[in-house]
Amino acid sequence: MRVLVIGSGAREHALLLALRRDPEVEEVAIAPGNAGTAIIADQYDVDVTSGEAVVKLAQRLKSDLVVIGPEVPLVLGVADAVREAGIACFGPTKDAARIEGSKAFAKDVMTKAGVRTASSEIVDNPGHLDAALDRFGPPAGQAAWVVKDDGLAAGKGVVVTTDPDTARAHAASLLDSGHPVLLESFLDGPEVSLFCVVDGETVVPLLPAQDFKRIETGDSGPNTGGMGAYSPLPWLPEAVITQIVDEIVKPVAAELVARGSSFSGLLYAGLAITSNGPAVVEFNCRFGDPETQAVLALLESPLGQLLRAAATGELASFGDLQWHDGYAVAVVVAAENYPGRPRLGDVITGSEADGVLHAGTARRDDGAIVSSGGRVLSVVGTGPDLSAARDVAYSLAKSIKLPGSHFRTDIALAAAEGRIGL
Ligand code: GLY
Repeated sequence: MRVLVIGSGAREHALLLALRRDPEVEEVAIAPGNAGTAIIADQYDVDVTSGEAVVKLAQRLKSDLVVIGPEVPLVLGVADAVREAGIACFGPTKDAARIEGSKAFAKDVMTKAGVRTASSEIVDNPGHLDAALDRFGPPAGQAAWVVKDDGLAAGKGVVVTTDPDTARAHAASLLDSGHPVLLESFLDGPEVSLFCVVDGETVVPLLPAQDFKRIETGDSGPNTGGMGAYSPLPWLPEAVITQIVDEIVKPVAAELVARGSSFSGLLYAGLAITSNGPAVVEFNCRFGDPETQAVLALLESPLGQLLRAAATGELASFGDLQWHDGYAVAVVVAAENYPGRPRLGDVITGSEADGVLHAGTARRDDGAIVSSGGRVLSVVGTGPDLSAARDVAYSLAKSIKLPGSHFRTDIALAAAEGRIGL
């Protein structure tokens, strides 16, 4: 099987590594990729938001399967174009990708499917903002306002705050730039990312993961695209995973089928495990980053065959997934000043070691690898327990030399110390 992966992050680097372990995958290619993916796959610089450009490349490469990593091409309909050209594609249609592209659509699907999620309200008129903020204020001073961009914002459109002025300022700046705002009630409890390979009503869950969205160690500072992740979750009982699949993901998949927006690809359920059970924070229409870097490090089943089965309507007969024992921890090394305007163009050393996955990197004309994005690298460690996996990941993180770079030091720490309970 010849596979073309679309994207340029550490998630796509992890996808390529797992695809290369599948004995049925003969060739892997990527567009547009980064300096790390260029070492392990043929790389092509095409506009991946253009269905026409992706189809032309897949036809030229005689790809048997196209795997679309990021949400933007999916929301723009690139998977539709690939399928229309008769090429198997892992990734939902533009219509189904609205589960991530429009939070209002996702809320409607969840309501119809009877799935527990935060209560919410869309505000698109600045004149209605103050009254709406009052309705969503934190009760008893212990919760928070959750203010989100209704469209795609790479994780950075979300502000969770107990300060009314911060909530109002974020909402007003979104409205000023023409973006409707979604106000939500705050869901308390540890967060879980459960990725499910879905085709219509068939749902195959991967190992659960937890990611760390705030920039600073100790969970403070602004939200980011994700600063680290670990998998599986020693504190999450198997029965809760079954409950999430049966009571949340399957009803949502069935509701999408019922409304003619059948989902085929990776359905990412972002959840909070509240005192009343799991509730949905958000759905995404693709693999999450950085959770994928940890989850795929443990996958034993052949990834290419799994994704092809979903893309060709054969997922129901794929069988149970096999996993390596143990745990994986991914730590993101970010450029100076990320998640603001990151400093770019600095030379990186140590990035060619095993376990280092590239995201914001580029190869300069003189051969040096330089930073070209805010999240520069993900380092991944595995081990028999979370402490051992953390040791490997952090020793890799410390071996990277990049001026001004930073990483959180507490990824998976609370779980390793048994401090997360339900
Ligand atoms: N880890 C968050 C995301 O992928 O959206």
